[in-house]
Amino acid sequence: MTQWWRDAVVYQVYIRSFADGNGDATGDLGGLRDRLPYLADLGVDAIWVNPWYDSPLKDGGYDVADYRAINPMFGTLAEAEALIDEAHSRGIRVIADIVPNHTSDQHAWFQAALQSPPGSPERERYWFRDGQGPDGARPPNDWRSIFGGPAWQRVTEPDGTPGQYYLHLFDRTQPDLNWSNPEVVAEFESILRFWFDRGVDGFRIDVGHGLAKDPALPDLGSDDEGLMEAPDRSSHPHWDRDEVHEVYRGWRAVADSYDRPRMFVGEVWLDDPARLALYLRPDELHTSFAFELTDPDWEPAGVRAAITSGVHAAQTAGVAPTWTLSNHDIPRHVSRYGRPAKARERFGRTKYDMDGLDLDRGRSRARAAALLLLGLPGSAYLYQGEELGLEEVMDIPDDLRDDPVFFRGSGVEVGRDGCRVPLPWAPDGESLGFGANGAWLPQPAHWADLAASVQQGDDASMLSLYRRALAVRRAQPALHTTAMEWVSSPPDVLHWRRPHPDGPLDVVVTMGTDHYRLPPGEVVMASHPPEDGLLPPGAAAWVRLS
Ligand code: GLC
Repeated sequence: MTQWWRDAVVYQVYIRSFADGNGDATGDLGGLRDRLPYLADLGVDAIWVNPWYDSPLKDGGYDVADYRAINPMFGTLAEAEALIDEAHSRGIRVIADIVPNHTSDQHAWFQAALQSPPGSPERERYWFRDGQGPDGARPPNDWRSIFGGPAWQRVTEPDGTPGQYYLHLFDRTQPDLNWSNPEVVAEFESILRFWFDRGVDGFRIDVGHGLAKDPALPDLGSDDEGLMEAPDRSSHPHWDRDEVHEVYRGWRAVADSYDRPRMFVGEVWLDDPARLALYLRPDELHTSFAFELTDPDWEPAGVRAAITSGVHAAQTAGVAPTWTLSNHDIPRHVSRYGRPAKARERFGRTKYDMDGLDLDRGRSRARAAALLLLGLPGSAYLYQGEELGLEEVMDIPDDLRDDPVFFRGSGVEVGRDGCRVPLPWAPDGESLGFGANGAWLPQPAHWADLAASVQQGDDASMLSLYRRALAVRRAQPALHTTAMEWVSSPPDVLHWRRPHPDGPLDVVVTMGTDHYRLPPGEVVMASHPPEDGLLPPGAAAWVRLS
């Protein structure tokens, strides 16, 4: 199957928090290589590794200082090459993460720009502009950083005077690149080749709907703070601009110049399926995330609408949908499903979100959600730790927090650290088997019960459920096409069919308070055991129809 990404199960490795091989409390390539047998045993088709490049980690590595070097905290280039080879020999593909919208302020280009005068070629790689007003005290325009505050930072010129401003849609340490500069275009095509030459099978594209800016840098006239999603208007000055497609056509040509097919999956936050489809034209990206399922609570109308919308968007574009329930930016779904009612913004987590949280309920629903996710047409991305049933950690002390979202805000929004806490591998030891010398963020003590080694031998565990579901999914041809039809059911039950010439398979999810009679056939997977053909509430099952 050459288009393996169309139905792959991809495991997202947040490398900093996956496994620490060298005892510095931070995850690394050594730890990841040691745990490849775990991932092979789980049964994933590929891994997506969050940015592993040299970086001061001001935004968890999405601030890249050198795109051709591995962060020394994570290892060496030779280790990355070894990881790619070892993963391949286990049949696991490797997707890297490319960050094209911005670099780190420690990148050689940005350092050179700071040392160079206004109007110099060095500054033309970024967006440097004079401030407004007689002494330039006001920023060049009214754009806001996604992480809070203005999107402009004033620099001190080499002669010590207050100088120009540079644009940063994210943190101050993440200056935006100028994609209308051909040097930037050429540099990134060269970076892609660097990693493709080393065997990387694809890239996840960070902020894929960003990159291009209106060179006139006009005021927005509205306060878009905190919104990653492009609003529904055709010409936003910094989101979803038509010029970005030329970039991706260039990238696709690079990918297609390799014999073994390479792929791109975009992080593209767009509501409009027609606009999204433009990114997924045959000469651009292979797929993009359907983020729909990261939004609704455990609530049938919202989840049904999310599925319909994700399927529709993929169909409009003629690609297979790419689903995810959680990632390194989003509160973990165990906690989302354990909350009584919607209480969050996409990037926002306030200190008050613990109110009414029922983790047992969240974990129980997360079992059903796993079968929901893996029963959908297309590909599924799992976020490390969801197979262990980990929840969002809400009580990290402020002085240990790391996310710029927390530091740029007023302190009420705690940011994304709570879904980035290092994994528990064993029930004991200082960092629950994560590493020999602690973990860079504190783990809840009760995660000892959720440790991978504890769950491994327990048939009823979340880990066993995921492992079984992946094995069953692999063996069921009906789960590998893009076909799906809704079957009529009560409003609080989601019931869909995956047709196949070898026999259809039905996916049923009960989200209300009633039992539901399963269709006649063989129950090949269930999150909670059915009794006398009745699926209990808050459960999911896969049934091969007889
Ligand atoms: C993406 C990443 C997020 C990062 C941001 C800026 O949304 O997923 O973690 O902070 O881009 O690079």
